[in-house]
Amino acid sequence: MAKDKLIIFDTTMRDGEQSPGASMTKEEKLRIARQLERMRVDVIEAGFPAASDGDFDAVRAVASIVKDSTVCGLARANENDIRRCGDAVKPAKRPRLHTFIATSSIHMEKKLRMEPSQVIEQAVRAVKWAREYTDNVEFSPEDAGRSDIDFLCRILERVIQAGATTINIPDTVGYTFPEHFGRLIGQLRERIPNSDKVVWSVHCHNDLGLAVANSLAAVLAGARQVECTVNGLGERAGNAALEEIVMAVRTRQDIFPCDTGIDATQIVAASRLVSGITGFPVQPNKAIVGANAFAHEAGIHQDGVLKSRDTYEIMRAQDVGWIANKLVLGKHSGRNAFKARLSELGIEIESEEALNAAFKRFKDLADKKHEIFDEDLQALISEEASDHIESEHYHLVSLTAHSETGEPPYARIVVAENGRERRSEARGSGPVDASFKAIEAVVKSGAELLLYSVNNITTGTDAQGEVTVRLAKGGRIVNGQGADTDIVVASAKAYLNALNKLRSKLERINPQV
Ligand code: KIV
Ligand code: ZN
Repeated sequence: MAKDKLIIFDTTMRDGEQSPGASMTKEEKLRIARQLERMRVDVIEAGFPAASDGDFDAVRAVASIVKDSTVCGLARANENDIRRCGDAVKPAKRPRLHTFIATSSIHMEKKLRMEPSQVIEQAVRAVKWAREYTDNVEFSPEDAGRSDIDFLCRILERVIQAGATTINIPDTVGYTFPEHFGRLIGQLRERIPNSDKVVWSVHCHNDLGLAVANSLAAVLAGARQVECTVNGLGERAGNAALEEIVMAVRTRQDIFPCDTGIDATQIVAASRLVSGITGFPVQPNKAIVGANAFAHEAGIHQDGVLKSRDTYEIMRAQDVGWIANKLVLGKHSGRNAFKARLSELGIEIESEEALNAAFKRFKDLADKKHEIFDEDLQALISEEASDHIESEHYHLVSLTAHSETGEPPYARIVVAENGRERRSEARGSGPVDASFKAIEAVVKSGAELLLYSVNNITTGTDAQGEVTVRLAKGGRIVNGQGADTDIVVASAKAYLNALNKLRSKLERINPQV
């Protein structure tokens, strides 16, 4: 029997963007949109157009370039939001409008200060306004996980009559449990008389670590769209992780009556791209996309895997896009080989000038590191793109860091500010601390350091370290990244990258602020 299609709705660029410091520029959204389309995501939620002119432009730009996926924008249930959203998604071949209003007593009383009957009327009006733009309209009763089921049945029957074509049930605060959430979906489908006219969707947050489990329980109860994000990015503890949903359904076809149309070999590339752009590193033990997800280290496991892979492996690394630490290029590789490898990795470089700049960085890296892996190329391109977008106000010219047992660490730094070289030195509790202090002595940003983290891009002591620095200033939060074989240099690059983002006039707006 033919299986149902499970629609994958990606909200990395809308809900994912609401993580601290993860806000994106238009160019960054375009890069992510291209990768999502390459991965054959069915619906791309590109942003919240009424939130700012920047997000309106970004959603419009995504709607203009995406060919196969549906492009969706989010709108609160009011006329202005819906009109902005309708205009933003208009260029799309397949536009969708997603409108929402809260339905839990706590939200209706304390946030909306509306009576339930007013909420129903507003939701119906919103769906009708949305239908003036497209016949592809999604409605979400926000905080459905804590809403009264009788009220949900009343409001959802009315919005379906008004023309909603997808009903999305969000567990906005990550409160539900798989058994209960599955039952909720089953009961809504059973009790609402016109429930068969729509696609049922779910949108789960991960506050109790149950977003994927809740989404999958809902699929077993008849949901045929899952809203999710790459790497599980999203507000607070994040959303259901796209890669986990897709691979759970694919791996357990004995359980699921449906499958997705996702090209899973694009998953690792998407994970890296999103991590690079948002500055949210992927934890090594993260399912599917973590560096250790397919590493069978323990002797007993290695022995089993060598005898027969299926003793411990339920998925194949290459099926989700891991290219087993393949040596790709070295010091003597030429520009054509470099370009060809990038294109095999799905990385398009738009201009000759950008290619030349990336090739120069590659040669510099190859001087320090003999073996260049795909992961190194991906980090290099993401750094290049970020510097290009931010039009580097600050640039690291040189760094000397000294650490010696029994001696206070210090760093000497030369930073170019708009091309003019400035120097300073400082002591610190370690070489990284000293170099950040030396940078601050020059730039005097006064920004608050919220997070500092280092990840190995590949294995081995000659690997590049990828550093994330999260800075806050004047109510803005940004994540900077830097990669280098020397982690003190990588740290200084990440700090300057974050400072460039803080200074940047480019709009990076958190849609729901
Ligand atoms: O979590 C939530 O409720 C949302 C809705 C807007 C779908 O993100
Ligand atoms: Zn959400």
